[in-house]
Amino acid sequence: MKNILVTGGAGFIGSNFVHYMLAHHEDYRIVVYDKLTYAGNLDNLIAVQNDPRYAFVQGDICNREDVESAVRTYDIDTIINFAAETHVDRSIMDPDAFIQTSVYGTYILLEVARSLGLERYHQISTDEVYGHIPMGQSSKETDKVDPRSPYAASKASADLLVNAYFITYDLPVTISRGSNNIGPYQYPEKAVPLFTTNAIDNLPLPVYGDGRQMREYQHVMDHCEAIDLVLHRGTIGEAYNIGTGIEVENLSMIEILLDTLDRPRSLIRHVADRPGHDRRYSLDIAKITALGWEPGHSPEEAIIETVKWYRDNEWWWRKIKSGEFRKYYEAQYGERLRAAAPQ
Ligand code: NAD
Ligand code: DAU
Repeated sequence: MKNILVTGGAGFIGSNFVHYMLAHHEDYRIVVYDKLTYAGNLDNLIAVQNDPRYAFVQGDICNREDVESAVRTYDIDTIINFAAETHVDRSIMDPDAFIQTSVYGTYILLEVARSLGLERYHQISTDEVYGHIPMGQSSKETDKVDPRSPYAASKASADLLVNAYFITYDLPVTISRGSNNIGPYQYPEKAVPLFTTNAIDNLPLPVYGDGRQMREYQHVMDHCEAIDLVLHRGTIGEAYNIGTGIEVENLSMIEILLDTLDRPRSLIRHVADRPGHDRRYSLDIAKITALGWEPGHSPEEAIIETVKWYRDNEWWWRKIKSGEFRKYYEAQYGERLRAAAPQ
């Protein structure tokens, strides 16, 4: 492994992964291949843009010719696929791009990896493929997938394709299934950066339903470290859960966030819930910890560190929130917030 194509590398986790890999592997060349959708942002990669080991190609993973050309040009031996439409609420509003990118796009990447005989294909997946997990249980990698949103279904479909290419064509694949990532460069449609940036501006925080849903918030750098471990020590053909093993209620996450910013609880607004909202995810992380990894941050440390990053990096998020985002915000929250009385 030395020339890696990071698809979706201009997004949140992909760009953090590029930073991580360049810092930890002197001899690797990293090529980011990204369509630059609303979520792709070259500001995330400013710190590496002059590194001779890094290159950027704008392209769609659904375009086979363009993917092949990038693979040949840079003598790629490994594809790590972060590219996806990733926001559950947008998948409920309009699932089309989710199916295109995660299902057809993953198929194209697998076909290129197979036809050019690449050394490795790694798929970045999610704990959402397992669906809602009742209290007292946690998901193992061998559990059946049971996705419940269009986003989760598009990701589970991709996992099934990846596994089929391993079984049928012997393609050397691995899959990692991460829980909720938080940290620098996350588009502020996701709960933690949305609530943080709203709170900084003393705007209400739109909390879905009772806010007692549970997520495993993990620091993005811990996730990147575990992906690197799977790349080097994982078994071909296998999936690995990556999380903290600790779920946090959204309201607890919000309390930590507000306390870090010294903002009042009165900013919380309970609004109409997300349709089909999964109440709880919970990962069994025994398999990845057996490879010698453990999360470097507790959920509370990850939340506090993340909130402080947005507090200190307004240059990054203010321009996003002042653009196209406003239309999205009105469509997603306008009615909900008007209908919610201040608590
Ligand atoms: P993101 O939305 O921040 O970034 C996605 C990136 O993919 C963007 O740069 C976008 O431009 C690019 N992209 C989208 N469609 C593309 C296409 N057709 N061709 C090429 N590039 C395209 O997403 P993220 O939060 O960084 O998530 C990255 C991956 O990790 C996704 O596969 C997601 O399902 C998975 N994941 C995310 C989380 C999380 O908490 N954010 C947790 C587990 C797994
Ligand atoms: O679990 C991994 C997944 O985490 C990833 O696969 C997805 O790509 C990523 O978007 C994330 O999905 P979630 O739906 O869990 O994340 P989100 O930040 O949208 O929401 C976190 C929780 O907060 C969830 O219970 C919904 C709730 N929420 C979210 C938003 C945006 C609110 O209460 N209000 C909001 O406005």
